[in-house]
Amino acid sequence: MRELESVIIRPARNVLGSLRVPGDKSISHRYAMLAALASGGSRFENFAPGADCASTLACVRALGCTVERDAQGAVTIDGLGPELGVPSGPLDCGNSGSTMRMLAGIVAGQPFTSEMIGDESLTRRPMKRIIEPLTRMGAEIHSANGDCAPLRIKGGKLHGIEYRVPVASAQVKTSLLFAGLLAEGRTTVEEPSRTRDHGELALRAFGAQVDRSRNTVTIEGGQTLHPLEACIPGDISSAAFFLCAAAIFPESNLVIDGVLLNPTRSAVLDVLTAMGSRISMVRVEEQQGELVGTVTMAPGKGKTVTIAGAQTALLIDELPVLAAIAPFTAGGVEVRDAGELRVKESDRLSAVTQNLRAMGAAVEQTADGWRIPGSQKLHGAEIESFGDHRIAMAFAIAALRAEGETLIRNSECVSISYSGFFADLERLVER
Ligand code: S3P
Repeated sequence: MRELESVIIRPARNVLGSLRVPGDKSISHRYAMLAALASGGSRFENFAPGADCASTLACVRALGCTVERDAQGAVTIDGLGPELGVPSGPLDCGNSGSTMRMLAGIVAGQPFTSEMIGDESLTRRPMKRIIEPLTRMGAEIHSANGDCAPLRIKGGKLHGIEYRVPVASAQVKTSLLFAGLLAEGRTTVEEPSRTRDHGELALRAFGAQVDRSRNTVTIEGGQTLHPLEACIPGDISSAAFFLCAAAIFPESNLVIDGVLLNPTRSAVLDVLTAMGSRISMVRVEEQQGELVGTVTMAPGKGKTVTIAGAQTALLIDELPVLAAIAPFTAGGVEVRDAGELRVKESDRLSAVTQNLRAMGAAVEQTADGWRIPGSQKLHGAEIESFGDHRIAMAFAIAALRAEGETLIRNSECVSISYSGFFADLERLVER
C-alpha cells in the first residue's frame, strides 16, 4: 500500500499571475478511444496527464493499439479500425468512471468478451445506467456486484436503439454514441437536459456524422473514422479551482491561457460573474469544434447565487469548489438538483458538508444540494479528501481564506486529474 500524503495550506492575500492548465480530461478520454477505432496514427498534444486518462491509454493499449507518450506530453495512438484486439487480461479503469462507462460502449461492439475492473471507489459507482441500454443494443453484460463493476461484457453485433437517458450524464450519452457507431442502423439518444457535448464533437472531428436536434443526438452505425492530429485545450474544470481562488480575494488578477470555453463546460464563468467577478475572454478560436481562449478575471461583490436544474448538470464537476468558496462570497450559494454528487468519486454532497463544518462554516445540506450563507469567517482545519481529487483541490482553495493552517489528508489523489496542482497554486498565491 502507498503511504497517504498530506499537504498544509497557509492563508493567502491574493492570487496573481497567469497559468496554463493541463489538457482537458473529458476530451482526452474521448480522443484516445476514438483514435483506437480510426485506421492509422493519431497524435494529441497537451493530452491530459492525470491518472484517469492514463487508465484510458492503458486500456486502449490492452485492446491492441500502439500508444506512445513523449516527454512534452504528446500522445500518439495507432488505431486498428472498428475491430480491436482481444485483451489478454481485464481492462483496468482505475478510478475513472469515464473510462469504464465510455469504453464499455466500444467493447460492447467487439466480437469478444472483455472484463472491466476498477479501484474500490469505481467499484461502488452505478453502472446500470450503461448496462441497461447497451444490453438493449445486443451486448450481454454481467456485473459481479449488483449493478457495479467488475463488468463482463460479451460484445458482438449491436443494433441501434432509441433511448432516453434517465439521468443527465455525458458519459452515458457518449457510451451509447460510441456503441451506435459500431452498431447496425441508427442510434438516437435523448438526454433530460443538455450535458457536455465532447462526444458529439469528437466523433465529428474524427470524420463521423452526428446530428443534434435540441436534446436529442443521432448517429448512423457503420461509419469509418479517420485519424486526427489535435492540440487538446486546457481543462476548464481544473482552471475553475484557480478562478474560484481569485474570486475570493478583492486584489486578485488572474489570466488563464489556452483554456476550453465550450459553452457546455463554461457555466462556471457565468456563476463567477453572478458572484460579481469581472471576466473577459480574448483570443477565442475554434479547434476541432471546441472553443478555446484566454480568460482573465478580477473579483468584485455580487449577489446570492442559486444553481438548479439544467445549470446544475452543466456545473457538476465545479460544484465542490463553488460550495467551498461560498462562505466567502457576499451573498452565499444555494445548490439544488445535485443528487448525482452522491455517486461521484466520493459522496461529494456529504464530503463538502463535513469539510465546510470542520472549518467552522454554517451549511445546510438538503436532499440534493446545500444552502451556504455568505460573508462567513472560517478557520483552518483537518480536511478529509476521501481520496477524491476534486474535494482535495476545492478545500485547498477554501483554506487560502481561512484563519490559520489547513491540513489536507490523502492529498496525492489530485494526481487523478492534476498532479502539479499544489505547485501551480503556490506559484500564484501571494502571502
Ligand atoms: C464526464 C461527465 C460527468 C463528469 C465527469 C466527466 C464526461 O459525469 O462528472 O467528470 O467526460 O463525460 P456524468 O456523465 O456521470 O455526469
